[in-house]
Parts: sequence; C-alpha cells; structure tokens
Amino acid sequence: MTLNETAREILADGKGILAADESTGTITKRLEAVGVESTEDTRRRFRDLLFTTKDVENSLGGVILYDETVRQDALDGTGMVDLLRRRGIVPGIKVDGGAKDLAGFPGEKVTEGLDGLRERFAEYAGLGLRFAKWRSVISVSGDLPTATAVELNAAGQARYAALAQEAGLVPIVEPESIMDGDHGIVRSAEVTEEVLAATVEALRRQRVALEGVLVKTNMVVSGYAGSDQAGPEEVADRTLEVLHRTIPAAVPGIVFLSGGQDDAQANANLDAIARRGPQPWIVSFSYARALQGRPMSVWAGAEENVASAQDAFAERLRLTGAANRGEWTADAERAGS
Ligand code: 13P
Repeated sequence: MTLNETAREILADGKGILAADESTGTITKRLEAVGVESTEDTRRRFRDLLFTTKDVENSLGGVILYDETVRQDALDGTGMVDLLRRRGIVPGIKVDGGAKDLAGFPGEKVTEGLDGLRERFAEYAGLGLRFAKWRSVISVSGDLPTATAVELNAAGQARYAALAQEAGLVPIVEPESIMDGDHGIVRSAEVTEEVLAATVEALRRQRVALEGVLVKTNMVVSGYAGSDQAGPEEVADRTLEVLHRTIPAAVPGIVFLSGGQDDAQANANLDAIARRGPQPWIVSFSYARALQGRPMSVWAGAEENVASAQDAFAERLRLTGAANRGEWTADAERAGS
C-alpha cells in the first residue's frame, strides 16, 4: 500500500482521527482536573474505554497513540494496537519530544525529538503503526512569531516527515499556530498562512512526497482573549482562504485540531467549513479535547461510570461526524450535552 493510499484510508467515508496521544505530563493534568490520579493503569483504563466504545470505527479512521499506550494491553488482554487494527482503525504514533523554549527567543518554542528518530521509526513500523504525528507550536502576538521560530520549526517538521516516509509511515505534519492571546482573526490568518507556507516549502526542500503527507492545522479563529470573536462563517472563509493559498492539491488530506475551543464551537466551525463543499484535499478532524474532554469528566475514574462515559464519547463522535459532513446543528449539540 502506498503512503497516499494509507492517508486516504484514514480519512475515507467522512471519517476523522482521534488524537489520544497526550504525553504523560499532559494527560496527567487532564486526569487530575477531573479528580483522577494519573497512573499507568488509569491512563490505560481511560484509553481502553475510548477504543472499546461501540461503533467508533464508523467515525474514526485513525487513532494517534502515545508510546506508553502502544506497549500496553487493553483490558481484554489484546495489545492496544491490535485492538484498533481489528476494528479497522489505523493506528498512529506521536513521535515528537514536545515543544521546548527556544533559546534566545523568549515566548517561542521549538519541537525536539529528531535524535534517534530513524531507529524509533523502524521499531514503530515493526509494531504495526502506519502513521505518525509531530506537533510544533507557534506563538502568536503582534510581534510573534519571529522568522527564526517559523523556520526552525518548519525544518524540524521536514526532517521528521522525511524519516517517517523512509520508514513507510504517513507523517501528519502539525504546525499549530496557537489561539491564546488577544490578537484578532486577521492576525491569526496572517500567521497561519506564513507558517503553513514555510512548512510546505521546507517539505519540498527536504524531498518529502506531498502525496504521502497529512497536514494538521489550527482553524483560523480570533485569539481567545480578543474582544471581537469571529463567527463560524468568517472562520470558514478565512481558514479556507489560507489553506487554498498554501497547501498544494497533491496533499491528500487536511485535519483540524480543536485547540481548546469549546466542543460546540469546534464543531460549529468544522460544520461551516464542510458546508463550503468539496475541496482539493479531504478535509476532516483530528481532535483530542473536543472528543475526549466530556467522556473523561463523565468517567472520573469510576468503574461504574464506564458505560455512561462511552455513551458520552459516542455522542461526541456523532456530533463531530455530523459537523464533518456539514450536517451539524446547534440544537443537536445542545440536546446531546
Ligand atoms: P486538541 O484537539 O485538543 O487541540 O488536540 C489535538 C492535537 O493532537 C494537538 O496536538
């Protein structure tokens, strides 16, 4: 199977991706926020709950895992990777080592994790993983990002993507221009365009085959602390304008992160984008928080809540799937929550 075929399989028939790949530090913060101690076992139980929810394979073509999960068994004794494969879901792996402070550039980050990555990819390919993710974080303000931060992060994405393709995995290239701050949507569009353009240019220079890449990006929205919040129509217009200007049609798919938007907002925006009709690439979702936040709080670590948490997850998938087809309504979202 070619990388292009794998990318298309993940996003076939309106399906999207679940990002269940929080690092131990990040999932610990999220579990503790709902009163659950973060241990290897609670992390395994929460992820098992998600992956064994009835019919998830109808909405999810891929799940991104964290290294710890890849090595764990589900509660029924099956390996987590096999569990997903048996359901017809393509398993993927987050391989970056996190965004760290960029020396000399206060407020900016650079993603680490290239050392030894070729060997890690060889192991992951052997474990049955078929795609990967690398996230870089771009700070947005009136002055940021600097050209240095944009270039270094784009170069990191390109080196990672080339290694992924060499090992036979589809790289998800995720440069996230973050939505914190009081900037308006025009600034968000400007930065997202600059970052995506630089990333695609770096991929080309690194001889990465665009046909075998998925791009994961933020929607173009107003900074969360901004006084003027753009609605879904403007978000859809500006997001698609930026994507049309920067992402070649050779790229098979673009997926959106939810980025801390509330669940309904993330879906209202995804729905408005889907309603604009067919695009040169498949457009879909790759959410963590907007899919998992609600089931995690319903679960709260208690065995007796597993069934209702799975119902909550199925409901989030149903609503996000509807948004991805341009069939979402605010009423259905309210009825579901
Ligand atoms: P959110 O949907 O919570 O933004 O997470 C997606 C993701 O994978 C970020 O890297």
